Amino acid sequence: MQDFLSYNKRQYSPLGPRSAEFIRRIDAHSAHNYEPYPFVVERAKGPWLYDPDGNKALDFLSAYSAILTHQHPGVIEAVKKEMAAGCDLVSRAIYSAPFADMVEIITRLTGYDRVMPKSDGGSSTDSALSGLLMHGYERGIKNPEVIVTENYFHGRSWIFTSNALFDPEQSFRKVPRARGVVVVKDNIDAIKAAIDKNTVGIFIETHKGEAGPLFSTKAHFLAIRQLTRENGIFLGVDEIQTGLGRCGYIMAWQEYGEEARPDFVTLGKALGGGIIPVSAVVGTEEFMKIYTPGSDGSTFGGYPLACVAACAVLNYIIEENIPEKVKELGQYFVGKLRTIPGIEVENRGLLIRVEIKNVDTAKYACHEMLLGKNRNPRIFMKHGHANREKNVAYTRIAPPPGAMTKELIDFAVENTIAPVLSRASK
Ligand SMILES: Cc1ncc(COP(=O)(O)O)c(C=O)c1O
Repeated sequence: MQDFLSYNKRQYSPLGPRSAEFIRRIDAHSAHNYEPYPFVVERAKGPWLYDPDGNKALDFLSAYSAILTHQHPGVIEAVKKEMAAGCDLVSRAIYSAPFADMVEIITRLTGYDRVMPKSDGGSSTDSALSGLLMHGYERGIKNPEVIVTENYFHGRSWIFTSNALFDPEQSFRKVPRARGVVVVKDNIDAIKAAIDKNTVGIFIETHKGEAGPLFSTKAHFLAIRQLTRENGIFLGVDEIQTGLGRCGYIMAWQEYGEEARPDFVTLGKALGGGIIPVSAVVGTEEFMKIYTPGSDGSTFGGYPLACVAACAVLNYIIEENIPEKVKELGQYFVGKLRTIPGIEVENRGLLIRVEIKNVDTAKYACHEMLLGKNRNPRIFMKHGHANREKNVAYTRIAPPPGAMTKELIDFAVENTIAPVLSRASK
C-alpha cells in the first residue's frame, strides 16, 4: 500500500464553494495574465489571509504583495483620516501638505536629496531608466544605453519586458525590443566589458527578488560601484522588493556600507502599506536634476492619500525598528529551516530562498502547504524558478515582518513547512 502520494499527483481545488464561485467569475472575465493559486482572500489581518469559506492562511509571500503587516492600524487610520477630512485627488500642479511630509521623511530616512513619486513599481523603474537615458542625451550621447544584468525583474514596462525577463526563451511579451538597455551576465568581467562610450549607467537589484531570490555579495556589489565611479557613470538600484526593512536595512545595499551608496534607488511595494500603490525614484541632486518640468510625472504620483500612507508606513518602520527585528527573525527562521532534510536555504533578513533538490518546480509543494487536506496552518508561498544546472527548484519565503514572532515561525515550520518540504524533493 502506498503511504505517501507525491504532491504532484494530488488534486488541489478551491477550499469551498464560495471560493470556487469567485474563481469562476474571475476566470470568466479577467485577462489571463496571471496564474493564481485557487485561494480567495476576503479579509486580511496581521500575518493572516482569510477566505470566504472560513479558512485562513499565513501570508508568507508578503514581499510580493508589499506588506509589512496586513491592516496595520496606524496606516489604516492615517488613510481614513485623509479620506474623511483631507483633500482627495490634488494634482502635482499645485502643492499639498502630505506631499511635504512624505518627501521630507523619505530623504531623511534614505540620506538622498530628492524624491520623485510614482505609483506602481514598474512606473518608477521606467522613470529611473528614462532619467538615466536623459542624462545620456544631456552628455551628448546619441544612443545612450543602460546596463542591466540577467535574471533582473524591474516590472512590466516595455523596455524591461522586451529585453527579456528571466529566460529569453519564455519571451513573455511578443513585442519589438526597446532600445536603450544592454543585458549582460551578472559577473564583473561581463559588466566591465559591456561599458563603452554609450553607457550612462548600470541599473541592478541589490538582491534579485523575483529570480530566486538570488543574493549579491559585498565584493560584487562594491566592484560594480567602483566600476561606475571609474567610468563616470551612474549606479541605480532597484529596492522595490528588498527595501524598507525586508532585508534588515532601509535599503538592502546598506549592508555593504556607505561606500556602496548608489546614485539613486527605486522604492515601492511596502511603501504603500498594502493599501495604496506608492513608489518613488529617490536620489542625489546630481542624478535627480534631470527631471525637469514635463519630463516625468503622473496623476497619482505624490497625491495626498499616497503620501499619508507612505508616511504612516515609514513612521511605523522607524518606531518598531523593523530592520533590526527582521535581522533577528530572519536568523531564527533560517535556523529552523536548515534542520529540514532535502532543502538548502539562504536569506537576507526575511527574504528567504528555499531550494528543493531534484525537482523542476516547487509548485506542488506550495499547493500542498496552502490547499492540502486538513493543513494547519495553511501557508501561502509561491513557487519560483527552477535552476536546471543545479537541478533545484526555488520557493521564496517572505513573511510580513511586522506581524512575525518566533512562536509563529515555530508553528509554521513544525506543522507545515517541515512536513511538506522534507518530502517535496524526489
Ligand atoms: C525589484 C522589483 N522591481 C519592480 C517591480 C515591479 O513592481 P510593480 O509590480 O509594483 O509594478 C517588482 C515587482 O515584483 C520588483 O520585485
